[in-house]
Amino acid sequence: MRTYRLPQEETPLLDALGQYRRNRIVPFDVPGHKQGRGNAELAHFLGRECLAVDVNSMKPLDNLGHPTSVIKRAQQLAADAFGAEHAFFIVNGTTAAVQAMILYACKSGEKIIMPRNVHTSAINALVLSGATPVYVNPGVDRRLGIALGMSVSDIRRAMDEHPDAKAVFVNNPTYYGICSDLKAIVALAHSRNMLVLADEAHGTHFSFGGALPDSAISCGADMAAVSMHKTGGSLTQSSLLLTSGSINAGYVRQILSLTQTTSASYLLLSSLDISRRNLALHGSAIFERVTDIAEYARAEVNKIGGLYAYGRELINGATVFDFDITKLSVFTRDIGLAGIEVYDILRDEYGIQTEFGDLGNLLAIISVGDSDQNIERLISSLSEVKRRYMRDRAGMFDHDYISPIVELTPKKAFYSDKRSVPTKASDGMICGEFVMCYPPGIPILAPGERITAEIIDYIRYAKDKGCLVTGTEDITTQHIKVVGGND
Ligand SMILES: Cc1ncc(COP(=O)(O)O)c(C=O)c1O
Repeated sequence: MRTYRLPQEETPLLDALGQYRRNRIVPFDVPGHKQGRGNAELAHFLGRECLAVDVNSMKPLDNLGHPTSVIKRAQQLAADAFGAEHAFFIVNGTTAAVQAMILYACKSGEKIIMPRNVHTSAINALVLSGATPVYVNPGVDRRLGIALGMSVSDIRRAMDEHPDAKAVFVNNPTYYGICSDLKAIVALAHSRNMLVLADEAHGTHFSFGGALPDSAISCGADMAAVSMHKTGGSLTQSSLLLTSGSINAGYVRQILSLTQTTSASYLLLSSLDISRRNLALHGSAIFERVTDIAEYARAEVNKIGGLYAYGRELINGATVFDFDITKLSVFTRDIGLAGIEVYDILRDEYGIQTEFGDLGNLLAIISVGDSDQNIERLISSLSEVKRRYMRDRAGMFDHDYISPIVELTPKKAFYSDKRSVPTKASDGMICGEFVMCYPPGIPILAPGERITAEIIDYIRYAKDKGCLVTGTEDITTQHIKVVGGND
């Protein structure tokens, strides 16, 4: 077991909330439900105990925007547990952490090197900050049709061409579990005075498991956005921003205050405190079990035939430097079904909700909350889906990543004069908004990118298959906003 600097049994926030309850404080502050008494239906639904601690900041409970007592201590414990210099509790989702990293590193007009298969929150941050992306095309697995990691040689080339870039942004891992060679990227970036920012939304568990890829902070990354709510066990929307010694923590706090709420939820904050303790004390045992069941599930899915649950065999030393084996990513196209079709069938007919399905792949997240029984149900349901629905794969779209043609920065395009045109007639125009399937939330088009016939075809196909296509002003995606003119 890892040793820590601080006593990880402590839960300062949980203790402070317990004390608040014992003090039987009479609330004349917000929230107006007043410990649940003013909203019986909500109290019945969520439980009185829960609403009794849905409170706002006050001296004994500290303040997220200016932490000096229990939140400060809870953040120090989290930093220690994750091996970081500082940890910031985030209640606006990992989106806020990703945005803070980019807003910290890049001012308007400054460059950031990044793969294009980033989550929309990263490109949203470019709209907010005005930073200019220098895209490195990720590797692509032709068979699976998915984007991989970035190779070190491609990053070096981008740095040679853009020596003035301020930072490199890396997914650790991608949604599918793929990692780039982060240590080498850090060494390269630091030798050129560039920061390394890691989107570790899907890698919270990396800090706690022996058989898992290295965490970004342990590789020397300067900042990491970590979704505790994804695989760390905390409540949805709660997250962490970790920083190393190279980062000015006071300035990070100011940057976070640009977008983060001034009314942080103590339900979310306490869930971070409790989950951090659980991971620090029991994380290695938890993730040993999680990796065991994920490896078992992978082997069983591969016995079904036709479905391919991929794993470490993808590692190639470059665009797949490491693989997160807790992710059960399954290639479905060989049974003639898009991942999103299997995703819908599993939910509608077998009562199983997986994380996402794209055009060729399905992703099941295995975590601290899974039982052997649930895993068996997933495996047997996948086997049934294959038996009942398998069909000829002819005519299926075979890739999920299309290299962008960037014409304008995201900010310039987003804020330029735009007009609405039918999506099917937009070939050759410059997109003024986002288009993405959610999940996974990786833009098919970002503002400033040229629309092509292939992209229009992809959007149509994704909608036909049942993907939720989002991002456009027109919620039906029949129309798209393009740069130039005005409605
Ligand atoms: C890679 C990645 N980064 C960032 C985010 C944003 O996280 P959140 O939904 O907590 O804001 C997500 C969400 O799915 C994600 O997949």
